Amino acid sequence: MNNNSKIPRRKFLKSIAGLLVIPSIAVWIESIKTRLKINLKSKKIVLPPDLNEGIVFYDGLIVKKNGENIKIFSSTCTHLGCKINQEKNNRFVCPCHGSQFTLSGEVVKGPATKNLMQLNFTKDKKTGKIIVYAG
Ligand code: FES
Repeated sequence: MNNNSKIPRRKFLKSIAGLLVIPSIAVWIESIKTRLKINLKSKKIVLPPDLNEGIVFYDGLIVKKNGENIKIFSSTCTHLGCKINQEKNNRFVCPCHGSQFTLSGEVVKGPATKNLMQLNFTKDKKTGKIIVYAG
């Protein structure tokens, strides 16, 4: 065997270190981007107190009201982010690639694989307005 074909130990270790560092930097950059997105997208949406019964698509939200029972979902499709703007046969349907979700936000047809994001909200005791914490 020719000794010239061997990789020197130091060079080999540098190569391995490089292979470990590059993915770590990529993960770090992704975490910063995620934090920035959350901060940029965090917002409050105020809904009027006299919401219609049933399902309403409103400013990036899907509001489902049945008497005092209210559930609010982000209308952002978990596949590639299109806005879901329709309900057919008791399913929320994404207009882009056809993903479908139950009225409880559970994905039942892909390509999406994650459920819709259910959003927290509070009701202002004085005005009755609903404050949704989106993002
Ligand atoms: S973005 Fe909704 S199915 Fe692709």
